[in-house]
Amino acid sequence: MNSEPVTTLYRVDDLPALDFDPFLRASLHEAPVRQIRLPHGEGECWLVTSYDLVRFVTADPRFSRDITGRPIPKMTRHFIPLDRAVSFVDPPGHARVRATVAPAFSSTAMSLLRPRVQELLDAMVDRLLRGQRPADLVRDITSPFPLAVIGLVMGIPEADHAHVREWATTLLSRASDEQAAQRAERVKQDSRAYFLRLARLRRAEPRDDTMTTLVRAMDHGTIDEEELLALATLIGLNGWHAVCNNASNMLYALLTTDGLWDRLCAEPHTVPGAVDELLRWVPHKHGVGQPRIATEDVRVGDVLIRQGEYVYVSYVAANWDERVYPQAGHIDFDRQGPRHLAFGNGPHFCVGPLLARMEAEVLLSTLTARLPTLRLAVPPGTGLLADRHPHPRAQGTPRDLVGAGLHGRRARTTQDPKNAIRARAAFDADEPHGTRSGAHHSRPCVTDRCGGVRVGVTAVVPAAPAGPASTARASDDPSRARPYG
Ligand code: HEM
Repeated sequence: MNSEPVTTLYRVDDLPALDFDPFLRASLHEAPVRQIRLPHGEGECWLVTSYDLVRFVTADPRFSRDITGRPIPKMTRHFIPLDRAVSFVDPPGHARVRATVAPAFSSTAMSLLRPRVQELLDAMVDRLLRGQRPADLVRDITSPFPLAVIGLVMGIPEADHAHVREWATTLLSRASDEQAAQRAERVKQDSRAYFLRLARLRRAEPRDDTMTTLVRAMDHGTIDEEELLALATLIGLNGWHAVCNNASNMLYALLTTDGLWDRLCAEPHTVPGAVDELLRWVPHKHGVGQPRIATEDVRVGDVLIRQGEYVYVSYVAANWDERVYPQAGHIDFDRQGPRHLAFGNGPHFCVGPLLARMEAEVLLSTLTARLPTLRLAVPPGTGLLADRHPHPRAQGTPRDLVGAGLHGRRARTTQDPKNAIRARAAFDADEPHGTRSGAHHSRPCVTDRCGGVRVGVTAVVPAAPAGPASTARASDDPSRARPYG
């Protein structure tokens, strides 16, 4: 037991591209259970990083997720949990709510869904190929694709997909000012009202979708209305946000690591292994997710965590624990080893891992088959993609600039730290191009729960500010993600 633990401030700094967080790396090596302070909230808490201990904490019922209303140490000033969200409910109530949607995300459901998911993606790739070149893969593929898929699964009409994207971006924003808090509160009300309307619609006209399943569960008395609304919102928002960011980061990693893309093209059977390894490797969560609270004294490794103390775990760190994954920073499609923790562990294990995996497999199989010469359009660190606005430092015609696999030309591949920093920043999943000042607006997309994915890809945006929204304010920055539940 540490009688006087040293407390370290974890500032949760932005990081270049998909770099592994040095604070997590140091914690893994030096203190897998360490006491930290966070930028907001009160007091100290524990951070657990090693694979074995993360599994231990997340599976042990003495660590409760019922933290609503407590003055927790946290990454952001505002914390707007959804009322009655499963994220903050302990078993057995938690299992009761989760069971209502389990069949909708089972392997059987995924097998039935897969052909329709493939059709959706094929149509998007067709459009991409017909469109202007170079192309922006995030705008045209990795954002609309998971949105269309989760819309299909939930039964959200296409005309409303943009709302889901907007709500997720706002709710997961880490912006800490008062306006951001008001925006998030408003979005919380709007999304609640929307899903309530959708639920009523499905009661009147049932369909073969998850919203209808939830309504039936409510009508049978398994869940109540608030539980239905919170779960529908979580699934809808995470279903887009997490997959969009994860898929973008996977592509970025594949296109910036020597040989990976070409191997995937040459050996399509490696796609499932590649997806699994990339899920482990991509740092989904930046910083910390939701804490747990010790309901009694519990020894975790060498440390005695006292009743009432808060504990955060880092699944990202656990996935890079060298004791479990030798050469953890190396992407190895053939890696053997225990199950990674990208989707969490214990009762709060992600609702949609099979869906997320299936989408990633369909995406990578399709893009490697149809766009085998896909290349970065701009230097790594500045972009996964090129859009219609040429990179100011890359002279030449669009044909010379890009690749996007459409021209079969290799783009420049020089890496420099400055670009890398920009790179990780310039992308925002749903921001229209030309709405930011600066040639490359640098910002990571950082969230800290299920959607906890750092987006390390960039879109090239025009050098000149365009349009009224061109002044980026911190408060607007959805890349600064807040926790919500
Ligand atoms: C690559 C994509 C995804 C990743 C990396 C991911 C990861 C995670 C993680 C780490 C957790 C939290 C575990 C914890 O709190 O201990 C989680 C929870 C959750 N995820 Fe995902 N997720 C992804 C996709 C999805 C999708 C597609 C859906 C919707 C179908 C979804 C819905 C949820 C929900 C509702 C929770 C809360 C579960 C609970 O607290 O019981 N996620 N996810």
